[in-house]
Amino acid sequence: MAADTNVPPGVLKAREALKDVPHEPGAKKKDPILVADKVVRRFGGLTAVQVDHIEIQRGAITALIGPNGAGKTTFFNLLTGFDKPNEGNWTFNGSPLGGVAPHQVARKGMVRTFQLTKALSRLSVIDNMRLGATGQKGESFWRGLVPALWQGQEKEITERADELLVRFKLDAKREDFAGSLSGGQRKLLEMARALMVQPDMVMLDEPMAGVNPALTQSLLGHVKSLREDGMTVLFVEHDMDMVRDISDWVIVMGQGQVIAEGTPDTVMADPRVIDAYLGAHHDGTAHDSAEVAAEVAAEAEGGKSDE
Ligand SMILES: Nc1ncnc2c1ncn2[C@@H]1O[C@H](COP(=O)(O)OP(=O)(O)OP(=O)(O)O)[C@@H](O)[C@H]1O
Ligand SMILES: [Mg+2]
Repeated sequence: MAADTNVPPGVLKAREALKDVPHEPGAKKKDPILVADKVVRRFGGLTAVQVDHIEIQRGAITALIGPNGAGKTTFFNLLTGFDKPNEGNWTFNGSPLGGVAPHQVARKGMVRTFQLTKALSRLSVIDNMRLGATGQKGESFWRGLVPALWQGQEKEITERADELLVRFKLDAKREDFAGSLSGGQRKLLEMARALMVQPDMVMLDEPMAGVNPALTQSLLGHVKSLREDGMTVLFVEHDMDMVRDISDWVIVMGQGQVIAEGTPDTVMADPRVIDAYLGAHHDGTAHDSAEVAAEVAAEAEGGKSDE
């Protein structure tokens, strides 16, 4: 009991919610924020994603792990509207999300972090943040139409952006181009930017990749604080120390399917999980194809709504 007095409330809540959940693929959760069924994505002859059933517990940090090419990024792309499945449906906060465009998904409270695009690196840090709130370039259309309304919003948006920049210790970089930031600072900016829409759930695809060790603890702390703020986090990560350190629950994908679920300790000792990793080759290069595809789709989407 005494040991638990230092455990933050968000952690206790997440542990309590997950304590009776069976350690098996597709396990039902007490209070799922996201439920997906029979989600299939094929690329030619390759089935990249084939998730029969998945539930993500509200308020918890869930890690989605699996070897290179397991389909993790593709699954993220599908859930957030950056890619379309061949089959399947899912609900977020009880409402269906299949076929919903990325910016609408974000407004419904589910955001993912993204590698910054070239266009964004040529914008200042504060403008990146403001854009995070409006979601789309198309907002400029409304700005022209209802200037008074927009101005009121802009003040609020800028205030929120500045608060987040302070929280993420990026306030000194406010006017700098995003492109001038270090890899770790970009990851922080991406996370801060995602919070502009005040999401219920944040999805992070490899938040630690390319981050200087000096920033690692700070990033971990920020992810944990999302849980303390009542948000749900789903993140993809290859760094098992990080997975062990921050996740309440771990879901393992292998060849497009969910092959194991459980607490970090049980999952990492599971022979199926060890086999999946040993059976896969880690070349570390092929892992961006799904992300690149989603980014291209996002740009097309942004371009469209600008018209
Ligand atoms: N746009 C695409 N066109 C064709 N194949 C794709 C596309 N996107 C992903 N794939 C393939 O789908 C499979 C799953 O890829 P995905 O990037 O989702 O894996 P991942 O689990 O995120 O891997 P990593 O851990 O390396 O990031 C891989 O075989 C990949 O080559
Ligand atoms: Mg990936």
